[in-house]
Amino acid sequence: MATNSSKLNAKFYNNFASIHDIMLPIEERLSGKSFFEYILKKDFKKNEILDCACGTGIHVILLSKLGYKVDGMDLSSGMIKQAKINLKKFNIKANLKVGDFRKIKSVYGEKKYDFVACLGNSLAYMQTEKDLKKALGEMFNVLKPNGMVIISQRNYDKLLKDKKRYNVIQQGKFTFLYIYNYLKNKVIFNIIAGATNNNRTTFQTFKTTYNPILQKDLKKHMQEMGCRNIKFYNQGNEKEYFKFNKESDEFFTITGTK
Ligand SMILES: C[S@@+](CC[C@H](N)C(=O)[O-])C[C@H]1O[C@@H](n2cnc3c(N)ncnc32)[C@H](O)[C@@H]1O
Repeated sequence: MATNSSKLNAKFYNNFASIHDIMLPIEERLSGKSFFEYILKKDFKKNEILDCACGTGIHVILLSKLGYKVDGMDLSSGMIKQAKINLKKFNIKANLKVGDFRKIKSVYGEKKYDFVACLGNSLAYMQTEKDLKKALGEMFNVLKPNGMVIISQRNYDKLLKDKKRYNVIQQGKFTFLYIYNYLKNKVIFNIIAGATNNNRTTFQTFKTTYNPILQKDLKKHMQEMGCRNIKFYNQGNEKEYFKFNKESDEFFTITGTK
């Protein structure tokens, strides 16, 4: 049965799906390709990948373009609907299903993967340690031996240290203002989306709650699961070989092998 927080997440993303790709245009994000080429080509042959929180499909498109066989799933039917539109636009064929990454087996059965991805801060929706462990355990379970899990998320160590109050993203006629609210063991992201047309601006507001998973805790949970060879990367810094600066980088990617 869906918990309250998973129902809330699904509802948030069903509403947010149309705004998501305006804020983070797929075409711009496809430039992340070199990072996956670096990570995957190093360790893997062209093989099967599950993106277990695929959102509007960016990484399903990107990894399919690299030649991998990709399955996608997401808790939000609205995000999956948008992902199907995006895949069609890029002429990509892949399985896309609605489902919870704490129960991957109930979506893709006994299928095993060489690589399971949980990207774009999605794991931080696990509000309790129990759920976090369940999600990681499920990702680990659907991996083949020597398979790799890859998780990307906000660097909460930095966010909690800086206690940054706001962030602004501008895209064309849209302005997105993020206002962060720090509670005990939670960070609420309040988002005001303003669309300006000539002399008129219309506003929409959204709110979503994250569990700020610290680097050391994520690493510890992955180790407890049996992950080997755990590595941190900075996804955006190709020139320095994706070296993660744990003090200053806003996001990181972590990988571990089964
Ligand atoms: C910030 S979006 C990131 C989407 C995509 N990975 C990207 O990088 O664009 C977070 C996604 O996680 C999904 N999500 C949250 N909880 C989930 C769960 N329990 N199972 C599967 N997907 C989940 C949301 O529906 C949303 O699409």
